[in-house]
Amino acid sequence: MIVLDGKKTSQKLRTEIAKEVAEMIDNEIRPPHLVAILVGDDGASQTYVNAKEKACQSVGMTSSVYRLSSKTSEKELLAAVDFLNNDPDVDGFIVQLPLPKHINEQNVIERIDPAKDVDGFHPVNVGKMALGLDCFLPATPNGIIEILKHYQIETEGKHCVVLGRSNIVGSPISIMMSQKKYPGNATVTLCHSKTQNLAEITASADILIVAIGSPEFVKENMVKEGAVVIDVGIHRIASTTTESGFILKGDVDFAAVSTKASHITPVPGGVGPMTIASLLSNTLKAAKISRSI
Ligand code: GUN
Repeated sequence: MIVLDGKKTSQKLRTEIAKEVAEMIDNEIRPPHLVAILVGDDGASQTYVNAKEKACQSVGMTSSVYRLSSKTSEKELLAAVDFLNNDPDVDGFIVQLPLPKHINEQNVIERIDPAKDVDGFHPVNVGKMALGLDCFLPATPNGIIEILKHYQIETEGKHCVVLGRSNIVGSPISIMMSQKKYPGNATVTLCHSKTQNLAEITASADILIVAIGSPEFVKENMVKEGAVVIDVGIHRIASTTTESGFILKGDVDFAAVSTKASHITPVPGGVGPMTIASLLSNTLKAAKISRSI
């Protein structure tokens, strides 16, 4: 069994990005600037935004975080989005999700200039992704694609089962895996909360991508011998065995499933670091396009 090491793989991508950023700086071009808008005080969102900020610094990019109160109105948030759309010193920005319940996420996403939408969530980018056109690909699905590529996992003609149909992961990765390219050319089944005979379907997967948001949901009886298993979940579980008082678990029961899988991503250190590397890659791309490099 091979552990798909997202930390190591993402480091390689980051080194390539850092090299390009250093070249920009050498040529007296301002480094790419990523902004994250964080509304409210959701603990997990704060952790993710901090990680994104640190990652920017590690490759020589500039980053800023706009921290807005949980009481921010939709109108105020839209005004912040407008401000960033029009700020020439900002190459790309993200609005960290989820947003407080009184704000309509789709209205906010649709307000982002697609040219600065480094999350790839705007309908223009989603549409281009679905058509296989050049665009900002969503970071988590693209991170999965990059790790499959790095480990030269065969995907053509394989049965790829995706668990979860979210706009951020399940839906886009199912489209990307079915497209006529590598990684892709797979026969894709998208499973969700209404799917019947779920374990039967997952057990027929050559490649199983799990983004269901339920800790250790996938057990060994749901996995075929020799399958490639990609775990997108990340959950903090209370634990007495660690100093921090919690451990991180994925959507897959790693200990049980790793006895059957040929390849599997760990949690942490699998998809997570790849997601951040993809965001950096999109930010570099936005900066290069806006400055015609
Ligand atoms: N929340 C969970 N994943 C993401 C992501 O990739 N981008 C944003 N903006 N919010 C998220």
